[in-house]
Amino acid sequence: MSTLALPSALPAPRRPSPESVPVLRWGILGTGWIASRFVASLQASTTQQVVAVGSRSQASADAFAQRAGGLRAHGSPAALVADPEVDVVYVATPHHVHLASALLAVDAGKHVLVEKPLGLDAIEAEAISTAAATAGVFCMEAMWSLFLPRFDVVRQVLESGVLGDVRTVIADHGEHFDPAHRILDPAMAGGSLLDLGTYVTTLATWALGPATRVLASGETTASGVNGQAAMLLTHADDATSVLHSTLLTRTPTSATIAGTEATLTLPGPFFMPGDVVVTAADGSGSVTWTDPEPIGHGALYHSALEVARCIGDGLLESPLHPAKSVQANMAALDEVARQLGLTSALDPSERAVRPAVRPGRTALDPLGDGQSPIRVQVPQSWLSKPTTHE
Ligand SMILES: NC(=O)c1ccc[n+]([C@@H]2O[C@H](COP(=O)([O-])OP(=O)(O)OC[C@H]3O[C@@H](n4cnc5c(N)ncnc54)[C@H](OP(=O)(O)O)[C@@H]3O)[C@@H](O)[C@H]2O)c1
Repeated sequence: MSTLALPSALPAPRRPSPESVPVLRWGILGTGWIASRFVASLQASTTQQVVAVGSRSQASADAFAQRAGGLRAHGSPAALVADPEVDVVYVATPHHVHLASALLAVDAGKHVLVEKPLGLDAIEAEAISTAAATAGVFCMEAMWSLFLPRFDVVRQVLESGVLGDVRTVIADHGEHFDPAHRILDPAMAGGSLLDLGTYVTTLATWALGPATRVLASGETTASGVNGQAAMLLTHADDATSVLHSTLLTRTPTSATIAGTEATLTLPGPFFMPGDVVVTAADGSGSVTWTDPEPIGHGALYHSALEVARCIGDGLLESPLHPAKSVQANMAALDEVARQLGLTSALDPSERAVRPAVRPGRTALDPLGDGQSPIRVQVPQSWLSKPTTHE
């Protein structure tokens, strides 16, 4: 007979309702894949106002604005962030321009929600968080999984102790991409690690805390980006996570958080809306929370509600995903990248900021003299849209 007791039901999620948060006026920076889905999600499921879009070209801004039902269309990122009727900027540009995009918005006094990963590395992520905190504006990485009802169920299960001593996280993220996708392009900071790997490392550091040791093995694509990365992380008290990201193959993309008393599983894709299953360690019983809204990227709006909730409460960061958690995740990813020998293939002129950072110094104070403010060099691609990339 089993000695392990499971609850009869898993806790109900506590996410804010669309009506319970202030209505913000959103400006969208970038007109690509995720920008379209974010806007559609807000328009379908919230009362948030999407009022403007900014692009490197007026034509792209106009087309996006029309598709979204009539937004103000700005033909430059600078014009978007200067729009006095925008409260918060959603940064939906590729990773390598997150820093420049976010700092542009912060400098203009706008709150920011920045797509994942917050920056290319821990230095960039810290630069963004610190700049926003210094400017007194809200900043959050759009790691949307953490704001889903599904993850609030997981959060409560972890807090309840029903899993016992949590020792193990196992997660993978493998998706198929067409050869033309930016993820295969070294000049766009491509690779599995920053696009997909960040989901599994975020999950592991969220559940088990910062990594104390990292072991990584991987493979590079013919195009010269990280194709797959196998990652073994050690956390406090020697808890372990076994993680994998790949753009070469389609893998289950599921996640397991296991404790001595019970095992929680998130059937794939674990980072989207979906069910939560908790099974007793001896296999004697199981309880499932069934997601009533399995709508994929239609659920992006939960991140926007978290932003509105926090801003309404006068917060500069979300307690559900603070800067220190992003730092812990980026630090693990940086170490994986170092072990895999991943060096940036970006044209230096395409990097927004590369301050010469001395050991122990931060990007905001690269020389350690307290007088070296970060400088945003606007990448060439921001000035005119390259004809080779759509
Ligand atoms: N949460 C999620 O599920 C999810 C899913 C996919 C992607 N993302 C994240 O969202 C970000 C954007 O990804 P995406 O797939 O939407 O990319 P995308 O389709 O290539 O769109 C990116 C947009 O950024 C703008 N941009 C600004 N500077 C650029 C530059 N130097 N090169 C190319 N485009 C530039 C472009 O708009 P203009 O031409 O109008 O300037 C472009 O349409 C990435 O950081 C990614 O990690 C998140």
